[in-house]
Amino acid sequence: MKAGIRMWQSGLVAMLLFVSSQNHAGTEADVTVHGDRPGPIIHREIYGQFAEMLGRGIYGGIWVGENSSIPNIHGYRKDVVEALKAIKVPVIRWPGGCFADQYDWRDGIGPRDKRPARLNASWGGEESNQFGTHEFMDFAELIGAKTYLSINVGTGSPREMSQWIEYITADGHTSLAQERRANGRDKPWKIDYVGIGNEMWGCGGSMRPEFYADVYRQYATFLHSPNDTPIERIASGANADDVGWTDKVMSIAGSQIDGISLHYYTIPTGEWTHKGSATHFDEAEWMSTLQGAMHMDELIAKHSAVMDKYDPKKRVALVVDEWGNWMDQEPGSNDPALYQQNSLRDAVSAAITLDIFHAHADRVRMANIAQMVNVLQAMILTDKSKMVLTPTYDVFDMYKVFQGATYLPVDVQGPVYRYGNASVPGVHATAGRDASGVVHVALVNLDPHQADTVRVRLSGIKGTSVQGRVLTAPAMTSINTFDQPHVVEPKVFDGAKFGDGVLTVALPSKSVVVLDIR
Ligand code: AHR
Repeated sequence: MKAGIRMWQSGLVAMLLFVSSQNHAGTEADVTVHGDRPGPIIHREIYGQFAEMLGRGIYGGIWVGENSSIPNIHGYRKDVVEALKAIKVPVIRWPGGCFADQYDWRDGIGPRDKRPARLNASWGGEESNQFGTHEFMDFAELIGAKTYLSINVGTGSPREMSQWIEYITADGHTSLAQERRANGRDKPWKIDYVGIGNEMWGCGGSMRPEFYADVYRQYATFLHSPNDTPIERIASGANADDVGWTDKVMSIAGSQIDGISLHYYTIPTGEWTHKGSATHFDEAEWMSTLQGAMHMDELIAKHSAVMDKYDPKKRVALVVDEWGNWMDQEPGSNDPALYQQNSLRDAVSAAITLDIFHAHADRVRMANIAQMVNVLQAMILTDKSKMVLTPTYDVFDMYKVFQGATYLPVDVQGPVYRYGNASVPGVHATAGRDASGVVHVALVNLDPHQADTVRVRLSGIKGTSVQGRVLTAPAMTSINTFDQPHVVEPKVFDGAKFGDGVLTVALPSKSVVVLDIR
């Protein structure tokens, strides 16, 4: 759960960057896209989502029940389903998070009026279990997403895990397959990923890595898919910078692991007791949040280097299955846990993070932003019948063209954005070529004041036409609300022009631009 805000500039580095900033006058950048050096596939699953039984993430956010006056498809909010389909959600992780290690899957099957209510020991309040296995698996099917189940290791057992998996996936006539049929689902579903525990160093059981690695091996031994459809096994990984955890778990259990997770949240103030407001923040917290997003690059590099010791061929994926901005809960709201607003700052930091995932696509093959609806850095906020799409949603929408594309390396030389003693690169970029040959280039301007002229050189790419979209807003703190839902939303971008083989882009301050080059 713990996050890091790393103040990554020492005085000396800051001084060097100051000189560099002066050289570039803060207004120009050069980006080279290496079409002649194609990299790995950007796995669709890095655009994954995380949906925990927490706050209004599920109830009111996704599930309203078939008898609700809110328009729904068999109990799922129609507006939310359509919005999620539009961003092509590739995979959903459920039911937690911390919740998963206290979850009894049997509470969430059978007639809904017979399901037991339980205390939600992780997040407070009661869990009605109206949304259970059938509701989750059907939901994923409805929106066309893969399924990622977090298994209860903390208070569960290998038997409970294997029975849950059999209940979901068995095709024959075992009592569990028959029970599923009796509960309304004839054909088995497909489980794509299983997470063996969550944050086992913390809410999952306060384990040491050596102990967890052995427990992992035990669970992995009994993890079978009855219909022989492979299920990828994800080990519960490190908290932010804790590479020691990755090292131990990889060394003891690496051969039985398909992916190992990493959790990293950005807290604007760096303090859990006062994380910072999602809407009322100053430039110092804009900067610290973007620095927090930039830290993901170093984190992945460090964990990946440790994994290389045991897995130099990169068979095992690094799965960043919880990431995002964690701010103070929205004041004045009567909402339960972890409801926060979402501003242009969240959009810019999401874009930076996705760029970083692309650059590490050889190792990072799944990621799940925390969380999908009404919780933390959400795609969507709902209030009874109202729904609003967040700036983070807009980035996932603009970036969906990168899903499954081939990564194209980029070099960026540009201004440095500084505030006080802190600094980050002024311009961030990523690129990919999709299956139809279209090259997509994303440019992010981290500077809230300074527009940039970006010269994009396309090496080994024959492009003559460009179109794109831009996401920006009047202020760093701009948000969409239920009453004003269109303050931050993507617009057609006409600031990119070809000339003399170079693409020149007028990149507005505090913006995200995605270009399609043909
Ligand atoms: O996303 C909220 C919580 O953060 C998750 O339940 C837990 O895994 C993490 O600490």
